[in-house]
Amino acid sequence: MMARKISIQLLHVFLLVVLLCLYPALAISSSGVGDDETIRCMERERQALLKFKADLTDHDGRLSSWGSTQEDMEDCCKWKGVHCSNHSTTSYITMLDLSYQDLGGKISPSLLELHHLRYLDLHGNSFYGPIPYQFSNLSNLRHLDLSYNPMLNSENLEWLSHLSLLRHLDLSGVVLSKATGNWVQSISNLPLLKELHLSGCSLPNITHFSSFGVNSSLSLSFIDLSSNGLSSSIFNWLFNFSSSLSYINLGANELKGSIPDAFGDMGSLTNLSLYGNQLEGGLPKSFANSSRLQSLDLSFNNLTEELHEFLQKLSGAENSLQRLALDGNQLKGPLPDFTRFSLLRELYIAKNLLSGPFPKITGNLPSLYYLSLYRNQITGSFPDLSVFPLLEYLLLQNNQLSGTIHTSIGQLHKLEYFSCAFNSLNDTFSEAHFSNLSSLWYLDLCSNALTFNVSSDWVPPFQLFAIKLASCTLGPSFPNWLRTQDKFTVLDISSNGITGSIPSWFWDLSPGLHYLNLSHNQINGLLPDLSSKFELYSGIDLSYNLLTGPIPLVPPTVVSLNLAKNKFGGSLSFLCSITGEWLIYLDLSNNLLVGELPYCLSHFKVLSILSLANNNLYGEIPISIGSLPQMQTLNLRNNNLSGEVPFSLKSCTKLSIIDLRGNRFTGIVPAWLGTHLTNLIVLILRSNEFKGSIPQEICHLNSIQILDFSQNHLSGTIPPCFSNFTALVDSTNSDVMTSFIYRAYYDGPYDDGTYVANAFVQWKGQDLEYGKNLGLLKSIDLSSNRLSGKVPKQIGSLARLNSLNLSRNILTGKIIQEIGRMGMLESLDLSENRLSGEIPRSLAQLNFLSVLNLSKNNLSGKIPSSTQLQSFSASAYSGNPELCGLPLPNKCPGEETPITTHAKDRSIELDEDRSIRQGFYFSMGLGFFFGFCGAFWTVVYNSRSRHAFFMFLNNMTDQIYVNITLNWARLRRRL
Ligand SMILES: *[C@@H]1O[C@H](CO)[C@@H](O)[C@H](O)[C@H]1NC(C)=O
Ligand SMILES: *[C@@H]1O[C@H](CO)[C@@H](O)[C@H](O)[C@H]1NC(C)=O
Ligand SMILES: *[C@@H]1O[C@H](CO)[C@@H](O)[C@H](O)[C@H]1NC(C)=O
Repeated sequence: MMARKISIQLLHVFLLVVLLCLYPALAISSSGVGDDETIRCMERERQALLKFKADLTDHDGRLSSWGSTQEDMEDCCKWKGVHCSNHSTTSYITMLDLSYQDLGGKISPSLLELHHLRYLDLHGNSFYGPIPYQFSNLSNLRHLDLSYNPMLNSENLEWLSHLSLLRHLDLSGVVLSKATGNWVQSISNLPLLKELHLSGCSLPNITHFSSFGVNSSLSLSFIDLSSNGLSSSIFNWLFNFSSSLSYINLGANELKGSIPDAFGDMGSLTNLSLYGNQLEGGLPKSFANSSRLQSLDLSFNNLTEELHEFLQKLSGAENSLQRLALDGNQLKGPLPDFTRFSLLRELYIAKNLLSGPFPKITGNLPSLYYLSLYRNQITGSFPDLSVFPLLEYLLLQNNQLSGTIHTSIGQLHKLEYFSCAFNSLNDTFSEAHFSNLSSLWYLDLCSNALTFNVSSDWVPPFQLFAIKLASCTLGPSFPNWLRTQDKFTVLDISSNGITGSIPSWFWDLSPGLHYLNLSHNQINGLLPDLSSKFELYSGIDLSYNLLTGPIPLVPPTVVSLNLAKNKFGGSLSFLCSITGEWLIYLDLSNNLLVGELPYCLSHFKVLSILSLANNNLYGEIPISIGSLPQMQTLNLRNNNLSGEVPFSLKSCTKLSIIDLRGNRFTGIVPAWLGTHLTNLIVLILRSNEFKGSIPQEICHLNSIQILDFSQNHLSGTIPPCFSNFTALVDSTNSDVMTSFIYRAYYDGPYDDGTYVANAFVQWKGQDLEYGKNLGLLKSIDLSSNRLSGKVPKQIGSLARLNSLNLSRNILTGKIIQEIGRMGMLESLDLSENRLSGEIPRSLAQLNFLSVLNLSKNNLSGKIPSSTQLQSFSASAYSGNPELCGLPLPNKCPGEETPITTHAKDRSIELDEDRSIRQGFYFSMGLGFFFGFCGAFWTVVYNSRSRHAFFMFLNNMTDQIYVNITLNWARLRRRL
């Protein structure tokens, strides 16, 4: 069954190879080679073969029969791969077939002695060096195949033009990059050539083609120039012999512009492949004439037509088309009824922009076996598939199908592969849906709202290799029908509301298990020893359950292991049983694990994600952590780890996220963090016992977006060089992603896993956990340390920073004037320091500022009057005895008593003020209004992610609207 997974294309290639291999045999038998003892090969040809053999390498001795002294082997016509034709007394070698013989070395020019050679096939070996130009003397050659000798090349194809009897030429994979434009001319000199294979030859583009004066009597019918990076100039040549061509492959080139009309006018065309180019627009009208077209492959281009127009133009091929491949374009509109293509066997329109419901099907397609429509926007209900009775592959995932699954699916007795994942189906799946699906081996219904209603003794008609039923409702009890399945390599029944423990029969079901995902259920109980329950290079995700007990031994070659958010206790000693050095992803966070990190971490040479957060681990980080050069994220948050951060960590230069928050780490903040780990985006050392001053070297962290050193014992001054944090300065620096894609397991129908890094960030006074939006935050938090001295004015250049918290230190001096340049600041906390002097007027320029705390300092003078600064509550300024003016209750010396207002008006105003202050607050003057709108729209239109960010953080737009309305009313009254 697995063999069916060999892609159909491969199968075709295979058949072709078989045919090509048979061809010589057939040809020979018909040419009547006799076994007449008296007829022997010519000595000259025999010597030529021996010379040829002498120049090549044959480690496996495949040519051991050549030159053998055994009497019956003296005739070289009997040597392996050699065929002769008999004339009266002598035989001439007419054929040499040494394909796939593991031969290497040089091709000797001695073969030119084989004057009668008609057929030469050396493909699939490791011959290297140039093709001997002396081959030009093999003027009887009909068939020449030197393909797939990856180190073979030819600087010049001049020799080819002398082989005027050539009918079949295959140089695929031979490097022809130096064969300048004249390769076309050499080919054009072969008047009998029918079949030309030059795939993956790095062919040069054709230039100045018209000057070649080409002989267009060429009778080519098959041409494969795929994978060459050719530009559209190739058309000039190709369209010269349009009338004879039946097979054209120009896939994986650099063709641009629209599809030329000329293809439609080629009367003999049966197969056209133009996949993997940059063709635009739609199908030319001329295709209405292509009544012989059997296969059309335009996948992965930039076609933008309405699909129904496209198919309309193909109507000439209604009675011939068998394969239509349009994956990866931008074709749009609804899927039309395609059953008028009555011979259609394969239809690929995945990854386009199809919308609307599945069409009403009028005919039926008895030969359709492959239907792929995934990643479109098809809506409506699941189609009636009884019109495609022999369907084998059905790919409908990532659309918007809703409602029930038509029971006709159950009648598709040939169906092998069925994916309808990521739709909005909400059916109750019953045994009837599967009644005749005896060929099914791949089932993916993940992420729908499907409920399974099958009896507990149901025996399905299939044996599945991949069972992907995430986010269905198989629970609450563990699905008993799995007991009948013993061939699965992938089982994903995450988020299925399964409760209770895993039945013991489960673990011995499928010896080939590669990937198991039971996460996000309520499974409890203990796990058995897992070390022998999986295939090599497996992935295990049991996260978000209620599993207890110690973590058992796991397979030594495990690739990904996620046991996060369970109730596992005990130590990490099981980690040392992972000896295979394949582990990429390890997440044990949110358990009850105790003990030290084992030294054997050093096994994990490719580990890229390590999360042990929220456990009770203690002791020091072992030095062996420096042996994890691939590590990108290290999360040890909220444990009891202590000691200094080991120097060896500086070798982990790929780290972009470090979160050590909430431990008892001591020592200074290492300078090498800045000099060596320059890819850091997030560095959180919060709530530890770090002391000493902040090293200057930290300023090398160009990419840093979240720097949190809060709640330590840091002293000294804030380094002025913070202005080197380019990601916080430079507006060209776009927001980064903090999700990591990892390979969850090897082999099988695999998917990649995604790890979304998470961290707690102090945001507007609240400690919030951020996951997928983490990379959008830009925050510096140095609060609750013993930092002293002035706030360096260079901080003002952090124009992208959203949040700055320097509170609870012993900072002195004035609030820097430059603060007004930090235009993206939403939260500023300088409270509980010893800042003095007046509040700079520039603070009023921070239009996004919604949280401000300057309390408990020595600030003095009048709070600058701008509607912005007066909008914060008095507590933002309190505890500064010499500060005065609104919103503080104490008036500044000499300040006039406010103009009296009518008692009624005032009471309304007070009510408003109170309600406004309860919420998110934007005060405004007219100038502010326009200034603000300008800034706001710039942000929204410059970057979608910023927009998402705003929505995510605090639904700001709604609040702006409310506040603007309120304030507008108030302002009008005051005017
Ligand atoms: C041929 O032209 C295309 C398109 O201009 C270009 O991308 C490609 O590199 C060229 N190939 C060679 C071998 O120069
Ligand atoms: C083709 O489409 C892709 C994706 O929309 C785009 O990036 C690319 O620039 C387009 N190429 C051409 C030649 O239009
Ligand atoms: C299932 O989806 C359909 C179509 O969206 C809807 O009309 C129907 O109410 C849903 N049924 C249930 C049980 O949710």
